[in-house]
Amino acid sequence: MKEHIQALLEQTVSILKQEGILPAELEPRIQVDRTKDKAHGDLATNLALLLAKPAGQNPRALAQLIVDKLPASPLVAKTELAGPGFINFFLDNDWLANQIALMAQDPRAHVPVAEHQQTVVVDYSAPNVAKEMHVGHLRSTIIGDAVVRTLEFLGHKVIRANHIGDWGTQFGMLIAHLEELEKQNPEVLSSGLADLEQFYRESKQQYDADPEFAERARGYVVRLQGGDSYCLGMWQKLVDVTLKHNQAVYDRLNVSLTPADVMGESTYNPMLAEIAEDLQAKGLAVEDQGALVVYLDEYKNKDGDPMGVIVRKKDGGFLYTTTDIACAKYRYQRLGADRVLYFIDSRQHQHLMQAWSIVRQAGYVPEQVSLEHHAFGMMLGKDGRPFKTRSGGTVKLVELLDEAEQRAAQLLEQKQTELTPEEKAQVVNRVAMGSVKYADLSKNRTTDYIFDWDNMLSFEGNTAPYLQYAYTRIRSIFRKAGVDAEQLNGQVQIGAPAEEALAQKLVQFNDTVKSVADKGMPHLLCLYLFELSGAFMSFYEACPINKDGVGEQERASRLLLCAASAKVLERGLTLLGIETMERM
Ligand code: ARG
Repeated sequence: MKEHIQALLEQTVSILKQEGILPAELEPRIQVDRTKDKAHGDLATNLALLLAKPAGQNPRALAQLIVDKLPASPLVAKTELAGPGFINFFLDNDWLANQIALMAQDPRAHVPVAEHQQTVVVDYSAPNVAKEMHVGHLRSTIIGDAVVRTLEFLGHKVIRANHIGDWGTQFGMLIAHLEELEKQNPEVLSSGLADLEQFYRESKQQYDADPEFAERARGYVVRLQGGDSYCLGMWQKLVDVTLKHNQAVYDRLNVSLTPADVMGESTYNPMLAEIAEDLQAKGLAVEDQGALVVYLDEYKNKDGDPMGVIVRKKDGGFLYTTTDIACAKYRYQRLGADRVLYFIDSRQHQHLMQAWSIVRQAGYVPEQVSLEHHAFGMMLGKDGRPFKTRSGGTVKLVELLDEAEQRAAQLLEQKQTELTPEEKAQVVNRVAMGSVKYADLSKNRTTDYIFDWDNMLSFEGNTAPYLQYAYTRIRSIFRKAGVDAEQLNGQVQIGAPAEEALAQKLVQFNDTVKSVADKGMPHLLCLYLFELSGAFMSFYEACPINKDGVGEQERASRLLLCAASAKVLERGLTLLGIETMERM
């Protein structure tokens, strides 16, 4: 809708340029916003205010000129001038009614694919090898997956990049420890290493306590980096067993990542030496005490001197930054990315900015390809401190999900009277996973957020159970009416204010989905679905369907509104990676 009105205004601006009313060189950024108050129409623009000065016109007079030249459109019933020079647009109810009828029968809820389809690489989840996934990776995984689903829905080519931490000096001690365990039990890995965290801890303890072990571990690092097949084989085993753990979490959470999406840090190893040399050849990197360093003017150290970023250590080794330089280059040159989205916690912001500054200076990725850090804050406990177990350890994701299911089962126990045991189990799982995901998705991702079981599992407020329940409510209306939602006919008539409010909300779905894709912010969709459910509940209270005295046409129209609401809710939740059910 916004785009449509924007396009109308663009046409108007060209007409006014041709007529010499506006200077030809003006390229205004046309903004169309939703109004807060229905009295001011549905959408509004400040275009006349923006152009008045450069055009040497009175804003209100210019607004009138724009309105006079605005091409006719089926969307717009009328326009009005307001205040010093705003233009308000009132949407046409016939157009609205027609849109609702189209949405009601379309699994895409009448959302078209994007006009300009792009190749988008999305970097998300990215846990580390031989470490359990913990709550810190949960946010990236959940938010990234919702954005990936939304981009794909809009027709973009999405490449999921799970940038796992699969390289580094820690592999020496991990290999040495695995070797010892395998001596005791050759099958140790086939049982899946029940506790990766413990394995990592034990390796580290030995490394710190036993000089001989540490010596062996360092030897393995050198051999691994040199491509030694024994060490690579051991390394691969550790990678595989970790991926198996992670995949179980993804599957349980209904996250769309698969082992094929893994592009870990090691992917870029073959590029690193050449990049270091190239940066040196380009005069960007200089030798400093044996290391190769890029000095960045935009970052100052304590003394106010340009900050140095090491790209190659004295011993010849490379760093996390070098990898991210290579990685950005690869995503553009090899994967053909138009956009690269990184869902990484905000503490890595400076790291990324430094890597990308070097990437741009070296010309590895042109400016028109956007590299975007979609940062997020921390997940905090109810006490406002980093989320920890009672004993102060990091919370394992698996345990968190177990607890979610226990709590959801308790919550739903009294409610699910008519369901079979299989249906019950499915509802518990969907509510539990939905709640954990939605709690995260519904918050503006840039801030820290408080993880609170009671809030996220509530049937009231902006929660997954509330939306899932709203969906089942609509489905039950169709069951009661004995009507198949896919076989509706008749027309939508928008009469009552609650019908109009619901219809207005429904047609905003399109713009909302688009802004999630543009901004990488799923909370916009959450808020939208929450408001839509509220509008639906008000509609359902004000406009009965399965009651005596409701006329045939009226009933058909209201059922279409119900069907469109169900389609949008289902599609919206699916984009967030949350499943719906017929009853709960
Ligand atoms: N493995 C890293 C961590 O756990 C996150 C990697 C994010 N992606 C990247 N391209 N640096 O902190």
